[in-house]
Amino acid sequence: MSIRHLIDITDLTPEEIDGLIATAEDIIAQPERYQELCRHRQLATLFFEPSTRTRLSFESAMLALGGTVLGFSEAASSSTAKGETVVDTVHTVSCYADIIAMRHPKEGAPFAAAQRSEVPIINAGDGGHNHPTQTLTDLLTIHREKGRLNDFTIGFCGDLKFGRTVHSLVNALSRQTGIRFVFISPDELKLPDYLKENVLKKQGLAYEETASLEAAMPGLDILYMTRVQKERFFNEADYIRLKDTYVLDPEKLVPAKQDLCILHPLPRVNEISVAVDNDPRAAYWKQVQNGKFIRMALILLLLGLRAE
Ligand code: CP
Repeated sequence: MSIRHLIDITDLTPEEIDGLIATAEDIIAQPERYQELCRHRQLATLFFEPSTRTRLSFESAMLALGGTVLGFSEAASSSTAKGETVVDTVHTVSCYADIIAMRHPKEGAPFAAAQRSEVPIINAGDGGHNHPTQTLTDLLTIHREKGRLNDFTIGFCGDLKFGRTVHSLVNALSRQTGIRFVFISPDELKLPDYLKENVLKKQGLAYEETASLEAAMPGLDILYMTRVQKERFFNEADYIRLKDTYVLDPEKLVPAKQDLCILHPLPRVNEISVAVDNDPRAAYWKQVQNGKFIRMALILLLLGLRAE
């Protein structure tokens, strides 16, 4: 059987994504069915860039499936610090682990690693490019909050240029029906042209771009807030000028729909006031929890395992 990797969200068909969501929802309902499925299996988490949610939710997911985990959380503690290539590192780890989740600051690094891996590679975020497992988390959350993955207006707000979670989610939603996209950002942080040309326009999907969160707010069913990605800026002055362009607070939510769903991949800095956390429309802490369940479902899929 050929090895399955998850490098880009389009490596999964829409039907497979529906299946992952169904499995995650079954895991939530009946966790005991899944607790032994990965006994004697090992997950390696190779994180060359900082993470809280992605790494720990992968590890928590594998432990909840009865498996074990190994890995590192910074490049400095691996032989990368001695000059080893990513490809050689992954080739090495694939001798010890059954599946690898990898985050790297260089775009395309997980793809390159997959070429020499003997086991499935999961892209846990590559530079400002893609973050497919965050997208699975987002889709599970939308499905649980809205009961569907189609026919809604979603506003993406903040750093749409470097925000890899935005890029993967736009790609995934472009394959659903009836999605209206509103991109809310300053000029400098607009969605990259390659996504507009190769994904949205190619499929004949209409979208709107605006700098005004206030103007967009009343029409939104989902608001996807993002952090301005300090680590991707070449110039600190630009980061400081742009970082607080959008700050969601209770006042800005006054004209919003009563059933708005507010998402954020986290971590947040200033872009959502903590006063919004108690608003019933805030779903970003549920998103964090959903990340574990959908990663459990993904590990099972890539290892070819299922509950009887
Ligand atoms: N959403 C997300 O990728 O968070 P971490 O950077 O903490 O993993």
